[in-house]
Amino acid sequence: MGTVILGTGSSLPKRIMTNKDLETIIDTDDAWIQSRTGIRNRRIGGAGEQTHQLAAAASRKALGMAGLSAEELDLIVVGTISSHMLMPSCACFVQKELGATNAFAYDINAACCGFIYGMDMADKYIRSEHHKKILVIGAETLSGRLNWKDRNTCILFGDGAGAAVFGHTRDKERGVLGSNMHSDGRLWKLLHMHAPPSYNPDLEVADNPGAYIIMEGREVFKYAVKAMEDSVRGLLKQVNISLDSIKLFIPHQANTRILKNVVERLGFPEDRVFVNVPDYGNTSAASVPIALDEANRQGLFSRGDTILLCSFGGGLTWGASLIKW
Ligand code: ACO
Repeated sequence: MGTVILGTGSSLPKRIMTNKDLETIIDTDDAWIQSRTGIRNRRIGGAGEQTHQLAAAASRKALGMAGLSAEELDLIVVGTISSHMLMPSCACFVQKELGATNAFAYDINAACCGFIYGMDMADKYIRSEHHKKILVIGAETLSGRLNWKDRNTCILFGDGAGAAVFGHTRDKERGVLGSNMHSDGRLWKLLHMHAPPSYNPDLEVADNPGAYIIMEGREVFKYAVKAMEDSVRGLLKQVNISLDSIKLFIPHQANTRILKNVVERLGFPEDRVFVNVPDYGNTSAASVPIALDEANRQGLFSRGDTILLCSFGGGLTWGASLIKW
């Protein structure tokens, strides 16, 4: 039994925020942002574009491509760190939006790795033959979780959602070939976001600046490049295939400098790397599935091609997956 992707979808908010727009909010400029990150625009969610609503819109497209109804889903997993409520999960709201009455649903908190962690779980559920149709989503509205006075972070992120429907195959030539997932909680401080203030008397509210992203950019940059390179190399060894056999590399869209460094260190050809970060910024857990969907709809790969996915984020978390389409 193997795991295949039956359909993909994505959804982005209508509002585009340019670097020029940011110049009116904080002390920054378009040239700095482009040279340091490659980002030109990002999308900002508005009315009707909350995390679960973007997630549901992406999911409808994925279900449409798969030719499935929502009632046929057994499980819904959402990777997110920006749902509008801590409880219920974003996945339960997506279930409600879709009318996926036969599924159970839960979230994964793995920051930018939410989708690839979810994909890894879907693969394992499907191989164990317990669940046959699994919807995995990465969805974020991080614009609501940013300190818009902190120019180190607010320029980087954007909103959006991507989804994929996973199913099974008996075709031994296709499907998820392998994955490796990692985390190192000792490095939590480099990239973190507080929960809402707690009433636990042992926790000082003064220690909690608010529920927005705090980041040590330079350190994150170094770990991101090394971790992504290591996880790709580790996975290729584990699955016993070479970089040459990869048709398309779809990395987490953090910024073009990180991507350039990873690709250079791997010695992978740039023209086989999918990049959309200039248009959307870093959409955290949504970045890989949005990119996967765009590449899929642009016909950049077809049946039998091997695709490499890789991500890195707060936790720290990182990992890579290989799938033969
Ligand atoms: N506009 C103008 N100037 C700025 C801005 C800004 N938006 N932000 C910082 N600066 C200034 C700094 O204040 C500093 O000035 P100083 O020297 O007078 O103090 C100068 O620019 C250099 O700052 P650095 O932080 O050293 O700049 P760096 O070259 O490291 O670039 C960046 C910063 C883009 C954040 C980089 O470190 C980075 O890409 N880090 C990775 C972060 C990331 O992608 N995180 C996402 C989450 S993890 C993930 O998804 C992989």
